Amino acid sequence: MRSHYCGQVTETLVDQEVEVCGWVHRRRDHGGVIFIDLRDRDGIVQVVFDPDSPANFEIAERVRNEFVLRCKGKVRARPEGTVNTNMTTGQIEVFGTEIEILNRSEPPPFQIEDATDASEEVRLKYRYLDLRRPEMQQRMRIRGQVTRHLRNFLDDRGFLEIETPFLTKATPEGARDYVVPSRTHEGKFFALPQSPQLFKQLLMVSGFDRYYQVARCFRDEDLRSDRQPEFTQLDIEASFISEDQITNLMEDMFRDIFTHVLEVPLPHEFPRMTYAEAIERFGSDKPDLRIPLELISITDLMKEVEFKVFSGPANDPKGRIAAMRLPQGGQLSRKEIDDYTKFVSIYGAKGLAYIKVNELAKGREGLQSPILKFLPDDVIDGIMKRVGAEDGDLVFFGADKAKIVNESLGALRVKVGHDRGLCEHGWKPLWVVDFPMFEFDEKENRFQALHHPFTAPIGTVEQVAADPENALSRAYDLVLNGTEVGGGSIRIHDPAMQEEVLKLLGIDEAEAKDKFGFLLDALAFGCPPHGGVAFGLDRLVMLMTGAESIRDVMAFPKTQSAGCPLTSAPTGISATHLRELSLRQRQPVAKEAE
Ligand code: AMO
Ligand code: AMP
Repeated sequence: MRSHYCGQVTETLVDQEVEVCGWVHRRRDHGGVIFIDLRDRDGIVQVVFDPDSPANFEIAERVRNEFVLRCKGKVRARPEGTVNTNMTTGQIEVFGTEIEILNRSEPPPFQIEDATDASEEVRLKYRYLDLRRPEMQQRMRIRGQVTRHLRNFLDDRGFLEIETPFLTKATPEGARDYVVPSRTHEGKFFALPQSPQLFKQLLMVSGFDRYYQVARCFRDEDLRSDRQPEFTQLDIEASFISEDQITNLMEDMFRDIFTHVLEVPLPHEFPRMTYAEAIERFGSDKPDLRIPLELISITDLMKEVEFKVFSGPANDPKGRIAAMRLPQGGQLSRKEIDDYTKFVSIYGAKGLAYIKVNELAKGREGLQSPILKFLPDDVIDGIMKRVGAEDGDLVFFGADKAKIVNESLGALRVKVGHDRGLCEHGWKPLWVVDFPMFEFDEKENRFQALHHPFTAPIGTVEQVAADPENALSRAYDLVLNGTEVGGGSIRIHDPAMQEEVLKLLGIDEAEAKDKFGFLLDALAFGCPPHGGVAFGLDRLVMLMTGAESIRDVMAFPKTQSAGCPLTSAPTGISATHLRELSLRQRQPVAKEAE
């Protein structure tokens, strides 16, 4: 039916006959000559029909946007002045000798163009049309290339791809489970995996030594631009391997795909930073190192000041006061500062103090700020020295519980960095290491695993049990331009350590047996030391394609409220089906509460 893809018809084919198939991108009637831009996944080619061939001309007159055509014709150079240098096929056109309408199309609900003003709801409802847009075709193509290169890389290094079940038991990664009722086990449910974590560990017990999987994961959690309820991980596990071996191998893999797919080199060695340093300097465990702004602690300078907003947190062991110098920030208007104050309040900050540095040499007189009157000279001087202030700068301050200061100033750092055009170009990968093993959940009054409960802590069982609060884990996260693209760890392979960690998490022996008995059993049957990592494939492709949301690199994503406008899923099920599953429906929680 076809000799070439539309996008492949270039000047090398001049004078040859070609046959192309595709969709009508645009049809123009120019004084008796009809131009059809025919589009397929490779690009667009212009096909011309003139009235000298009345049968073809009559068909060409009838075609509309998105009709499916087969056209045959001779390639010829475009006349002088009509060459389009923006298109790979812009030097030529096909002089049509045959045209066949293979199928008609309703007028599409939006133009099939890169620049679309269609709402996301409409784009997702007609996703098959949205996916025709060249930008989406290109993203899906890159996604395919990335997956292929990752597989090749791992295959070449002795990793074996093995599939693990979807219908399984809860796999704790910190989100809610999607559950599937079982018909054959009345009143029982499968959980869809939040990750293949436990199965990949079992595969190490089985001696596969090097495993990977392009694995679908399911998490019922609040969605954002980089989170979807079902998403894909490149999941990896290996035995008899150290942190350095695995992170080095993964760096090689990242350099390999960036070179092959984007033709850009990544740094020879990715920097490593401890979790503590990342939080101290950037207020985040996934710092975007392209932004040259930092948080600087001034808690110690504020212990004696009269200004309660600062002295309160300064004397609270959980408090923090941090400053962030914005070079040349003195140009910020009152309105901009007010907007940033509103912005940090999203993160719980009660205000956003600032000092404008007009002329440092003049001391207090050279500064401008609503908080100056609360601060003595030596404190002001101390702040200016510590942050390295220069004339024209602005210094922001956050004072509160450390968590609030870190989250609010950490987010402000990224926002201001982008707003002020300070964000550098290029790729800044970073390994974050030495995470705390546990974090204390104030609401539930118990420890939670910062990664997951199978992550190995640093130290012996006794050391961890004696001081869980300060225990660190052998985990590592890979951050790329401020997005967490992956995370992993060396795992616990000693049953005694696993039992202790579960105990510290408030999971008693009976519950541990019930939930993870199969893992504890397996650890007791000669489990090798092992570790691994998982990368968010969607997030990685989002970064590589410059897309704004992971929805833009998934063929059929869900909306922000975890629905699918295309299929209308999720849907109700029939009474018969419910009965078969031994389920009875009750009022939604919100209605019951009324
Ligand atoms: P973790 O939970 O950190 O680790 O997940 C690994 C990576 O998966 C991506 N990711 C997501 N992407 C899109 N939507 C989501 N809802 C979502 N949640 C996570 C992120 C993240 O870095 N089993 C462990 C890995 C291991 O220890 O080997 C795990 O799942 O890019
Ligand atoms: P107030 O005395 O509440 O008017 O605050 C004086 C200045 O301190 C204002 O610029 C507030 O935005 C700022 N401010 C108030 N609370 C905080 C806080 N927790 N952290 C940083 N700045 C604050």
